[in-house]
Amino acid sequence: MGRFLPERRLTNEDLEKMVDTTDEWIRTRTGIRERRVLEPGRGCSYMAIRAAQECLDRAGVAASEVDAIIVGTVTPDMFFPSTACLVQQGLGAEKAWGFDLSAGCSGFVFSLTTGAQMIESGRYDKVLVIGADVMSTIIDYTDRNTCVLFGDAAGAVLLEPCQEEDYGVLDFIQRVDGSGEPYLHMKAGGSRKPASLETVEAREHYVYQEGKRVFKFAVTGMADVSVRILEKNGLEGKDVTLFIPHQANLRIIEACAQRMGLAMDRVVVNIDRYANTTAATIPLCLYEAVVEKDALKKGDYLVMSAFGAGFTWGSVLVRWI
Ligand code: UT7
Repeated sequence: MGRFLPERRLTNEDLEKMVDTTDEWIRTRTGIRERRVLEPGRGCSYMAIRAAQECLDRAGVAASEVDAIIVGTVTPDMFFPSTACLVQQGLGAEKAWGFDLSAGCSGFVFSLTTGAQMIESGRYDKVLVIGADVMSTIIDYTDRNTCVLFGDAAGAVLLEPCQEEDYGVLDFIQRVDGSGEPYLHMKAGGSRKPASLETVEAREHYVYQEGKRVFKFAVTGMADVSVRILEKNGLEGKDVTLFIPHQANLRIIEACAQRMGLAMDRVVVNIDRYANTTAATIPLCLYEAVVEKDALKKGDYLVMSAFGAGFTWGSVLVRWI
């Protein structure tokens, strides 16, 4: 595993000076205290390369051994080429191919299960899966409804074949529902409404979110798949050592844990320090749990779940090796 966190911190107190908000509102409604912001001019690949390099160093694997690179992101450096191409070049992963995967805040979970299936196919031995987003570049810092919620970061994992039966990525449930599009999207800059002076002036290149509506879908969607993945595999909340939910709102996380029958001491939470980093939330939590806290032992069950723009949502069950 590897991660990259920009140095610069944007605290709730800083935001109080920018929009009509309070530290108290942000903390009680979301659980966020501060978030990180990447220096201007540095794109998604800057963070993704650094997270991936740490990941390879920890694994003792050379970039030249990597077979494929998947980057979950909604903030690529540019529409094309993909961020995966820039990461391939930056790492010097000469034999790798790869692609970006766009699934909003479910970007890491969808990328992880895609990478796992590539490994399972028997065709690949080393797949780099990265979740990276520079949300500060698509956030309107005059809109208090959204600017308090997001931050920048990247996380990476290296997937390899598991030699033992019934370990590793065991199962997943994933869904999309495009009827969610009106509630969370970016209005312009794509092929339907290309960038123009008008779209820039109308501030249409920023995240648009109807928070309350998304909140309701997120609680139901994320909890449903998290409960179902356990039932499907004959497990209960008490069997789960760690639950890593997407970090969008502490209240969503708590509601989800409750439906799973999990005490909060088995739920990884870092939203207070990094806010919602979109595709990076889950690998950041995984890094803290595994690299910093050594919280997973062989045989432990780990559930990771996400919900995001699309709508997209999913849950993945892992037995730690
Ligand atoms: O990760 C992708 C998926 N996204 C999510 O999962 C996000 C889901 N949504 C949420 O987390 C929450 O809906 C929010 C945190 C975005 C908002 O919390 P809420 O409890 O749903 O608040 P609200 O949108 O209903 O707003 C309540 C009030 C409103 O004022 P009025 O209309 O009641 O007078 C807002 O204008 O809070 C106001 N408000 C704020 N006040 C101070 C909204 N943002 C702020 C703010 N500071 N930053």
